[in-house]
Amino acid sequence: MTGAAPLSVAGVEKRFGGIAALSGVTFAIDAPGVYGLIGPNGAGKTTLFDVIAGETAPDAGRVSLGGEDVTARAPHARAARGIARTFQECRILPEASCLENLLFTAQPKSLAAAVLQSLTRAPGVDAHRVDEARSLLALVNLERYTHEPAASLSFGQRRLLEIVAAFLARPRLLLLDEPAAGVNPALLETLHHAIRTMHSQSGGVFLIVEHNMEFIMSLAGEIIVMHQGAVLERGSPEAVQASPRVLEAYLG
Ligand SMILES: Nc1ncnc2c1ncn2[C@@H]1O[C@H](COP(=O)(O)OP(=O)(O)O)[C@@H](O)[C@H]1O
Ligand SMILES: [Mg+2]
Repeated sequence: MTGAAPLSVAGVEKRFGGIAALSGVTFAIDAPGVYGLIGPNGAGKTTLFDVIAGETAPDAGRVSLGGEDVTARAPHARAARGIARTFQECRILPEASCLENLLFTAQPKSLAAAVLQSLTRAPGVDAHRVDEARSLLALVNLERYTHEPAASLSFGQRRLLEIVAAFLARPRLLLLDEPAAGVNPALLETLHHAIRTMHSQSGGVFLIVEHNMEFIMSLAGEIIVMHQGAVLERGSPEAVQASPRVLEAYLG
């Protein structure tokens, strides 16, 4: 399917009881790049990520990856097609070492694969993958923690670990949910540089939810703005920041 959009979302709706979290989200990402997804709290950004990654089934609408409709596919099947994500609340294994977190916990597996891995204790990690994991730890200045438990990391360092773990499989579509939230200014620079570097290595689509405007506006080539469960605006960082509608959505 050459030429098909890496990601296409069409008419996605999702209700939680009386709340319309998503009320007709439609957009396509046609080319590789770093994209920002912004919008006020409650706009539906995290729910949209859940629908794209397959953790939440939409009430209506479709999600396509590279032209393939994956709406009915489980998260691990979507991961196998090149989706990876991080979560708004960091999900790492605190007792496992940083290296183990990268190698084993990064992405959803089918139950069968998880059972097989635990039974055989032979997860099929090749030396090349370990090298990649080590170089990603170095990218975020965590090499000295390679064999330390992830619990020994600061909050910001855990975020960095989770992000490089999601990148390890070189996803075609990487979804980052508020990567900069709670990260101190010193680590923000490391995070910014790491995202740039990973993107230049992968050439895929990075879609990043972020409230830190300076961070996302300097990182993304294009910004998609959500408001009340739908796409409100889309454009260059400059155009979006100058948009009266966007300003109104944030102030209202
Ligand atoms: N599991 C859930 N149950 C009930 N309401 C939810 C659930 N998840 C999200 N919501 C609601 O859906 C709306 C969108 O939430 P969310 O996608 O988390 O927004 P954002 O990430 O943009 O802040 C909010 O009103 C939120 O309270
Ligand atoms: Mg959210």
